[in-house]
Amino acid sequence: MNTMVTFFVLISLGKEIQTCQEGDCIKLERYTYSNSEPSVDIECSIHVPGARPRSWIHSFKSKFIRKLWGRVFNNTRHVLSIPFCSTMDIGQYTCFWDMPGNPSINKTTTLIVNGPAIVSSHLVYTRTTWAEMNLKVMFYSHPIPTQLKWYVNDKEIKPGPKYSQPIYFETVSLRLHDNIHVNISGYTAYLTIHKDTYEPAGVYRCVIENKFGTTKEIINVKEEMMLQKTTKESVAIIGAVLGAALSSILFVALLCCVIFVKKIWRKNKAKKTDSPELKVDGLYQDSSSDGYMYIDACLTDISRTNSE
Ligand SMILES: *[C@@H]1O[C@H](CO)[C@@H](O)[C@H](O)[C@H]1NC(C)=O
Ligand SMILES: *[C@@H]1O[C@H](CO)[C@@H](O)[C@H](O)[C@H]1NC(C)=O
Ligand SMILES: *[C@@H]1O[C@H](CO)[C@@H](O)[C@H](O)[C@H]1NC(C)=O
Repeated sequence: MNTMVTFFVLISLGKEIQTCQEGDCIKLERYTYSNSEPSVDIECSIHVPGARPRSWIHSFKSKFIRKLWGRVFNNTRHVLSIPFCSTMDIGQYTCFWDMPGNPSINKTTTLIVNGPAIVSSHLVYTRTTWAEMNLKVMFYSHPIPTQLKWYVNDKEIKPGPKYSQPIYFETVSLRLHDNIHVNISGYTAYLTIHKDTYEPAGVYRCVIENKFGTTKEIINVKEEMMLQKTTKESVAIIGAVLGAALSSILFVALLCCVIFVKKIWRKNKAKKTDSPELKVDGLYQDSSSDGYMYIDACLTDISRTNSE
């Protein structure tokens, strides 16, 4: 009886060490979600005698962000707590274990943090030859935004002949810990004001809403600002303790939007070749998500020229 038990233990131990070389004996979820909880715990466990934990590594698409230590229990569990989880924490977390007489092994989880939109930057620009002024707000939002509205001096701006308000999918810069910036899929919202009929100076507000809250970006446009480019790193958004699960429905919705934008883009491109004149004839249409996308081919050109 006793020999049988010993035999069994040896077999299972041998099997464990063997699979460990591929990191299989580490238990760690593939994805970790943060949904506005005060903190998130990531647990990495292993059941190999003699294994010793090393620090966790936070990275974003292979870019090193920081090293972290969690609490170690009995050399079998390494629990990393992330307090006040925010978009600064997004990315991959890898736990490492040193194995007795073997190379160390590791396993990675991806932390998905949802919450109100984060504005990465804004820009005010104009072109003297073009009788219009552009306000541009770049932001990251997970889940996808459900609504975006512009206000001037507290009055809501409705799209019309004087204003256009397109939104594009675009890579934006997001600040993670240790002031490291990474590129991530985000959005660019424009407000174009056609100046011939309107005085553009004023306090503009871009209000972005998603399932997790509202983010406001204030742009104070003064007369002298209109001929100069300005950028600013957005200040920390108060209460931006982020969270929400990337539900598959939202993800599908986002994909649908991308397809939608591409479709409209192509459509407008074809139209544009026969009329080189700048003409604002945006399409305003419900997308398959609960938000909307307002697409305007002309502004695609403006943003392109501007970033070149
Ligand atoms: C993590 O483990 C994999 C094998 O599972 C290995 O290829 C990779 O180099 C390891 N990463 C580090 C940083 O050691
Ligand atoms: C510590 O881990 C070992 C195996 O690695 C296990 O036999 C033991 O029961 C654990 N002790 C506690 C207190 O969990
Ligand atoms: C982000 O994108 C910009 C422009 O596309 C590029 O210049 C920059 O190097 C990128 N940064 C990172 C961290 O990849």
